[in-house]
Amino acid sequence: MNDQELLAAAGAASENAYAPYSRLRVGAAVVGESGAVFTGANVENAAYPSTLCAEAVAIGQAVAAGERKLRAVAVLSPDLTSILPCGQCRQRMVEFDVERVVVAGPDGNSASHSLEELLPGGFTDWR
Ligand code: THU
Repeated sequence: MNDQELLAAAGAASENAYAPYSRLRVGAAVVGESGAVFTGANVENAAYPSTLCAEAVAIGQAVAAGERKLRAVAVLSPDLTSILPCGQCRQRMVEFDVERVVVAGPDGNSASHSLEELLPGGFTDWR
């Protein structure tokens, strides 16, 4: 799946976003080391901090299916020209060695970022 297709999968997932509070729909698509693709959407809660980001849902799906390394995470919101993952989700990506983060550029093209670029010095297991 190329970057545009991955962003399209994230966009399709965003259609199922549950975002009655922020009204910001977000979708994510993750490629595992097996090559399988997993998607997620944000799931909000009346107790706002209980909200799940789209990336957290998609990464959770991948890991629960047995993936331990992730080749790519794409994130897209139909409500914003471009969106970058929040800090907590960047740290979630560090845990599973995400190789690249794909986002939609304002020009409609995709842009790819390394995690080291998005979260320099992210925390890893100290043991
Ligand atoms: N959100 C995501 O799903 N991913 C991000 O990277 C940033 C924020 C969601 C959480 C919440 O439902 C809404 O966007 C507004 O913060």
